[in-house]
Amino acid sequence: MSIDWDIQLFPELASTQDLCKELAVGGGPEGTVVQTFSQSGGKGRHGRAWISAPGNLALSFILRPGCPVSSVGQLSILTGVAVAQTVGEAARVKWPNDVLIDGRKCAGILMDSGLKGAWLEWLVVGIGVNTASAPKMAAALHVDRDGFRDGLLDNISKFYAAFRQDGFTNIRDEWLGRTYSKGTALNVGDFETIDNLGNLIVRDGQNRLKTISAGDVFIKDQDYAAGD
Ligand code: BTN
Repeated sequence: MSIDWDIQLFPELASTQDLCKELAVGGGPEGTVVQTFSQSGGKGRHGRAWISAPGNLALSFILRPGCPVSSVGQLSILTGVAVAQTVGEAARVKWPNDVLIDGRKCAGILMDSGLKGAWLEWLVVGIGVNTASAPKMAAALHVDRDGFRDGLLDNISKFYAAFRQDGFTNIRDEWLGRTYSKGTALNVGDFETIDNLGNLIVRDGQNRLKTISAGDVFIKDQDYAAGD
C-alpha cells in the first residue's frame, strides 16, 4: 500500500526535523511531510549543522512502521536507496545513507525515532538535497526541487511497501549495487558488506570481521571525509 502523503509547506523554518518531531510526538499520522523553502537551523548527523541554500530541498516526514527498534538501520538504508534512485543511475551511496555524485555528497539523511518499549512508535526521516546549489566539497544536482520531491516521495513509498511485504533483502542488494567495491579502505577497516540489519561490516588489519552500527565512515585519504 502506498503512503498517503500530506505535504505541509512553510516559507521559512528553523528545522523541518524539529517541527516534524513535534507533530510525531503529538500523534501526527504516517505520511505527514514538513517542507520548507528556507531553513535557518538545519540539523545534520552527529550534531552538525546542515546548510540549505535557497532552491534546495529540505523536508522531513513521519513513518509509523510498527517494527522493532532494530529495524531503524534497515529503514535508514532504504531511505538512502530511495534518494539515490531519485537522483539517477550515477548516484552512489556511502554508509549509512549519504548519497554521492562523482564522490561528492548531494544529499543527507537524518533519522529520529520515538520508541514504545522495544518498538518504533514513530520515525521522522529528514532529507536535505542539493537540488540547486551545494556548499564547498559537495555536489549540486541542478534539478527542479518540487519535481525531485515528488519523485522522491514516490520512491520512498515504493521501497517502503516492498520492505513491508518482502523484507530487507532486495533493498540491501540495491544498496550494495551502488556502494564501494569490496576491500575499499575505509577509516574503520576494509569494506566487506552490510548485514541484514543495515550495519556496516568491515575487515580489520588482523583479518577479523567487525560490525559497525554508528559513527562517521569515510574512504581513507579522501578529504570530503564526513561529507558535509
Ligand atoms: C547529514 O548528512 O548530516 C544529514 C542532513 C539532514 C538534513 C535534513 S534537511 C531537512 C531535515 N531538517 C533538518 O534540520 N535536517 C534534515
